[in-house]
Amino acid sequence: MITAKFEKDYCPNLFSWKELSDIVNQYISLTPERFKVNLPPDYISTHPWIADRWTINKQTFPSHILKDIIEEHVCYIKEMSRCTEKINAFAKSIEDEYNMPTDAHIYMCRNMSIDHPFGIHFDKSHNVIVQCEGETNFKVWDKVEDEKQQPYQMNISEDPILNVDMKSGDAIWIPKSFPHLATSNTPRMSVSFPFIRTHEEEPLRNREWIQL
Ligand SMILES: [Fe+2]
Repeated sequence: MITAKFEKDYCPNLFSWKELSDIVNQYISLTPERFKVNLPPDYISTHPWIADRWTINKQTFPSHILKDIIEEHVCYIKEMSRCTEKINAFAKSIEDEYNMPTDAHIYMCRNMSIDHPFGIHFDKSHNVIVQCEGETNFKVWDKVEDEKQQPYQMNISEDPILNVDMKSGDAIWIPKSFPHLATSNTPRMSVSFPFIRTHEEEPLRNREWIQL
C-alpha cells in the first residue's frame, strides 16, 4: 500500500544543475523519444535548423535550440534511471521496496512566467519525486473516484491533503490516481521516479553499476 506523504531532507544531493548540464551538453542522446516538451505550434517553424551529417536522429534538437527550450519551457527527460550512479541506486531502492519497474524523469523549469502544462493532473503510475534544485510547491489531492475522466487540467474545489514547499533533498510520494499540481517557486529541477507493475512477469531493469 503506497500512501501520499512528504519527507524533509530524504535524499540530499541526488542530482545537480552541474550534472544535468553534463547530460544536456551530450545532447545527441536527447532524442525526441526521451526529451519531452510541449512547444507552441509555431515553435519549430520559427526556430529552423539543419541537422549536421553526423546526427543519427535528425529530429534531435541541436544544442542551441535545446538551450532555448530549457530556459523558456517546462520540459523533462525520460528513461534516465541509469544516468548517474546515485539515481540508479535510488531507482533500485524503490524496486527493492515495491517490486515494480521504476524509471527516472528529470523535470526542469527555469522560466517563472509559465504555468505547468498539465495543470492539476493525475498519473497512471505511482511517483516518488525528489527536489534537487530550487523550490517547488506541491499540492496533492485524495484519489479520484473516476479514473476514466480526463487526467489533466482538472478543477478541484476541495483542500489538498498535502501542500508543501519542497526544497533540495525533500521527497514526496504521490500514489497513482492522486491529483497533484507542481508550481515552481524558483527556477527548479526535480527527479520524478514513476513506478508501476501491470504484469506479474514484467522484468526490472538491471541495476548493476559498471565500473571500468
Ligand atoms: Fe504528475
